[in-house]
Order: sequence, then C-alpha cells, then structure tokens
Amino acid sequence: MKNLNIEYLKYDNTKFKFKELLKNFYGCDLTQIHKKFNIGQQSYDVTAGIDSLSIVEDTYKNVINSEIFQDVWLSFINSVIKLYFKNDKILIQKLPSINIIPSGCEIKYVHKIVDGMNLHLDCHQPFYHPMFEENFWLPMTETDELNDLYYLNNTKKIRVDAKLDEIFRFGNDVVHGNIVKNNSKNTRISLDFKALLVSDYDENLISDRIIIKRGSEYKQNEWYSTKHYYMEH
Ligand SMILES: [Fe+2]
Repeated sequence: MKNLNIEYLKYDNTKFKFKELLKNFYGCDLTQIHKKFNIGQQSYDVTAGIDSLSIVEDTYKNVINSEIFQDVWLSFINSVIKLYFKNDKILIQKLPSINIIPSGCEIKYVHKIVDGMNLHLDCHQPFYHPMFEENFWLPMTETDELNDLYYLNNTKKIRVDAKLDEIFRFGNDVVHGNIVKNNSKNTRISLDFKALLVSDYDENLISDRIIIKRGSEYKQNEWYSTKHYYMEH
C-alpha cells in the first residue's frame, strides 16, 4: 500500500512569533477568544468561500496584513519553508490563511458532511486547488480530540495532534477536515498555506473552469498563479 503523503516539520515558534502577534491583538489566551468577543453558539456556512466570521476578517486585516506579521512571514519562508524545498525556487501563498473555530460554533466548509465532519480534498468543490500544491498547517492553539484537524488513512480518521512548534505537511491527495461543531471548551486557531516547487507547477493540471473566490468568479488557472494567489520566492 502506498504511504500517506504526510509529515511533521519542526520550527522555532518563539522566533517566528505568529502566535504572539495574535495574542497581542486579542489580548487574551487564544483558546478563550470566544468568551472575550462574545461569540455565541452559532452556525456558519462558509462553503461559498466567503468568511462569515467577522473575527476572521478582523484578524486578517489587523494581524496578517500588518507589516510586522509580513516580516515574520517572509523570514519564516526564507528559513523554514525554503529549506524544506532545498532552496529551490518555489511558489507560495502571498500570505497564510487563518482558520478560527470558536468553541461552541458549527462551521460548515464543504457541501457534503460525513459523520459530522468537514472531510474533503482541497482539489474538490468548493476549493478546486491544483493537485501539485503542498499543504502546510500550523496550530496556533493546543488542540484536543474535539477541535483538532483529522486526516483519513484508508477509512480511519486520525487526529493530526501537531504541537505548537510543528507544521503538519500533507499532499493534496490526503482527505482531511475537522468536526463541524467545536464541542471543545477551547477555540481552535490555525494558520495554513500552500506552496510548491516552481518545477512542479503544471498547467495541464489546471484549466479555465470558473471558481468562486471571496465571492467573485475567476478562472482556475488565473487565480492559482502569481497574478492572484502565489508569489515566487
Ligand atoms: Fe482543506
């Protein structure tokens, strides 16, 4: 049987202080932001690719887009991600995505929920990511079995259980997702992004099919290019 395309990479999470920058913004323990910001037990459907959680938009605007965060991001790419790709030329998301799953909330990412989980492949609806990308997922909060990311090994669901100084890297052929309702007492926050070797970019694997990103229509091969999504590094 083919081995699953996953691995855990270590990084210095005090030097690359994503977590600290988030904590400074919220002014509280990251697992407890649902209390501080009074996020009640709500259901969100984000299958159309538009973030309907205002805290995600606020964090993106005020933290991820800030100059200091971008500095940390660039040095993280240069020291950690480039090393993973053996210093060859890469394409990488311009800035990472942030995912916030407040305690008590239900967040639906995919159209078909299986066993209460958002299990999916990123190449499928609604993401339509190219198969040649690699996924990098970094927990910003400690996770537990109720709010963690899971992946499928055959039909078995396995908890990612990455530590705060780890990056879970997985191929686009790995089915993954979290439990739709976060029944943990803790909010889960994670960063994630895609990257690939420039030499792995294959225009035969993408097309001009229309995809919806942040509420607008794009051709898949235009969105997943340096015009919108990636930067070359
Ligand atoms: Fe995904």
